[in-house]
Amino acid sequence: MLDPGIKPSAIVSYLDHYVIGQDDAKKILAVAVYAHYRKIAAAQRDDVEVAKSNILLIGPSGTGKTLLCETLSRILNVPFVTADATAIAQTRYVNEEIEAMLQRLLDKADGDAGRAQRGIVFIDEIDKLRASDGEPRSVSGQSVQHALLKIMEGSAVKLRNAQYLDTTNILFICGGAFVGLEDIMAQTRHYGYIATSASDDQNVLERLNARVKPTDLFKFGLIPEFTGRLPIIARLQDLTRDMLVRIMTEPRNCIYSQFREIFRNEGVELSVSQRVFEEISDLAIEYQTGARSLRGLFEELITPILFVVPDDPQVKKVEITSLLVEPTFTRTANG
Ligand SMILES: Nc1ncnc2c1ncn2[C@@H]1O[C@H](COP(=O)(O)OP(=O)(O)O)[C@@H](O)[C@H]1O
Ligand SMILES: [Mg+2]
Repeated sequence: MLDPGIKPSAIVSYLDHYVIGQDDAKKILAVAVYAHYRKIAAAQRDDVEVAKSNILLIGPSGTGKTLLCETLSRILNVPFVTADATAIAQTRYVNEEIEAMLQRLLDKADGDAGRAQRGIVFIDEIDKLRASDGEPRSVSGQSVQHALLKIMEGSAVKLRNAQYLDTTNILFICGGAFVGLEDIMAQTRHYGYIATSASDDQNVLERLNARVKPTDLFKFGLIPEFTGRLPIIARLQDLTRDMLVRIMTEPRNCIYSQFREIFRNEGVELSVSQRVFEEISDLAIEYQTGARSLRGLFEELITPILFVVPDDPQVKKVEITSLLVEPTFTRTANG
């Protein structure tokens, strides 16, 4: 469980090692999980009920929602599972699907129900559960929202072997791209009693503008009870070219480090210029899949080189300066 010495700022610093950018979301998540585990500890001490605050992560695909939750669960050392709301909605047996998800959480906790009951469940594509007008799905998104609502509020769910898992203290994080939410928000963008004169602090106004209101989510198609269970909302931003470059080159275990290591094991130094990463990032932006296409693009570049290098022991260094220029091979005279 949460090391009592770990502060939200430390959680953010840890996230920074793995997740590029998304500073607002990191802070909101860090404070939320900190408060969550503090509340559980206090409840156990004083034997009181805790009101749980689950979290909604709104952001375009491939911007780090899953990565953030995964990294968070690692720092907190709690079991973590992800599920896909669309997959749940596509089955006729919604409750079985939800049970299977909680069973996976229990498995992740090596069968320790106490640990599983303090875990994190990330449910992605929650926006696909919007109340739809007669879509040919087995179950309507709304009924899935109701089913999820039950476990998010906290209930005892019967799993295999007649074992029960109490979901009261499980932290649920829902994620989705919510395409179209911006338009809904734009329609209801007014500040009420807050004047909007030139002297107003532009940052404060921008912050208010960026806030997603529960009413925006109803309009989008989430049922009010469901939104009510997600009081904490964090937004992730589109990744800029600079961030995409950093994703490939900075985090521990980033793509560049991984391939440098593979080449090192062949006795070869791999050197890829900044320009190459910028070119790859430009393509990734065109593909509109956030950071998702970075690995594929990088591997496409590296694969032909990695094909020939093991057959050529004299190669000591490979340099790539641009996607548009052939890589340079440096060889020793006799290897
Ligand atoms: N902000 C980020 N920092 C580092 N890597 C990222 C970031 N966003 C996405 N990625 C990488 O892109 C891939 C997809 O990210 P993911 O977290 O699954 O996106 P999402 O859940 O928002 O669709 C992952 O492999 C992840 O490593
Ligand atoms: Mg994801």
